[in-house]
Amino acid sequence: MPGSVLCLGAAVLDTIFRVEAIPTVPTKVLPSDCVQVGQGMASAAAAAVARLGGRARIWARVGDDAAGRHYLADMQAAGVDVSQVRRVAGRRTAISTILVDKAGQCLVVPYYDPALDPDPSWLPLGEVAGFGAALADTRWPDGAAALLRAARAAGRPAVLDADIAPVEVLARLVPLATHALFSQAALALLTGCDGIEAGLRAAAGRATGLVGTTAGGRGFYWLDGGALRHVPAPRVAAVDTLAAGDVFHGAFALLLTEGRTIAASARFACAAASLKCTRFGGRLGAPRRAEVEAMLARAGQEP
Ligand SMILES: Nc1ncnc2c1ncn2[C@@H]1O[C@H](COP(=O)(O)OP(=O)(O)OP(=O)(O)O)[C@@H](O)[C@H]1O
Ligand SMILES: [Mg+2]
Repeated sequence: MPGSVLCLGAAVLDTIFRVEAIPTVPTKVLPSDCVQVGQGMASAAAAAVARLGGRARIWARVGDDAAGRHYLADMQAAGVDVSQVRRVAGRRTAISTILVDKAGQCLVVPYYDPALDPDPSWLPLGEVAGFGAALADTRWPDGAAALLRAARAAGRPAVLDADIAPVEVLARLVPLATHALFSQAALALLTGCDGIEAGLRAAAGRATGLVGTTAGGRGFYWLDGGALRHVPAPRVAAVDTLAAGDVFHGAFALLLTEGRTIAASARFACAAASLKCTRFGGRLGAPRRAEVEAMLARAGQEP
């Protein structure tokens, strides 16, 4: 069980273009690079767990189309168990077009088929106990609620990637998580607070477990018994921040399965996410464990 993470949520076929700058007016831009990759938040997190040497399974929904076949083949090649991904007849797999500029910042245009069946009753929730942790994103709220509840009932960490989503979805899922890990934008969206500390204190009023937020190049902040704590992100030359949050969440959940502290898990996850930022291609840039440990060792920190 240590070393295994059960992930649930977005399953997307992303087309990622590398461009000089993200246009602000209607125009035509010629990218210098392009990849197509199966990811989405929970899927990229699962692939990051596998790259780090852990065991990862994804629970998600795709359509019965070419994009879905591409997603499944890609995720399988990444070492993720896709045997329980549901292919929904007559529906379309989520697709997304992404522009990454020379500073590594992204423009993301995702399309999710609104008719993709949200019913989570097919999920084999009894299998949750066979994993060291569960990790859900916000793209399939009914599935996330079912997984987070089942993980808690089984005594496993129930980690929520609380990234941008409708406020009512965040409000519903945050109380179900043992670890509600926001993006800065989603924290502001849910709480109406601009600052990280004020946002986390407001979020803690809605949560029943730990609250924390990633903060891009500034790293990770969380509340520990009422005190604000911080792990800075290692400084890197970022070329692509797409899926950095997903790599963070996968790495963090993996370290929780090993019984590591929040601070140690956060240091490891920040190092993994910042290494990802140095490579183009979304989650394809996720690091191996030895790279993360070498980075931590260079910084004089315990792996
Ligand atoms: N420019 C950067 N330099 C170093 N590390 C970064 C940088 N951007 C992101 N990171 C690392 O990735 C983690 C997650 O980033 P961020 O807070 O931007 O996630 P996010 O908003 O969920 O975005 P996404 O899910 O699209 O990756 C940060 O906590 C940090 O460790
Ligand atoms: Mg994110």
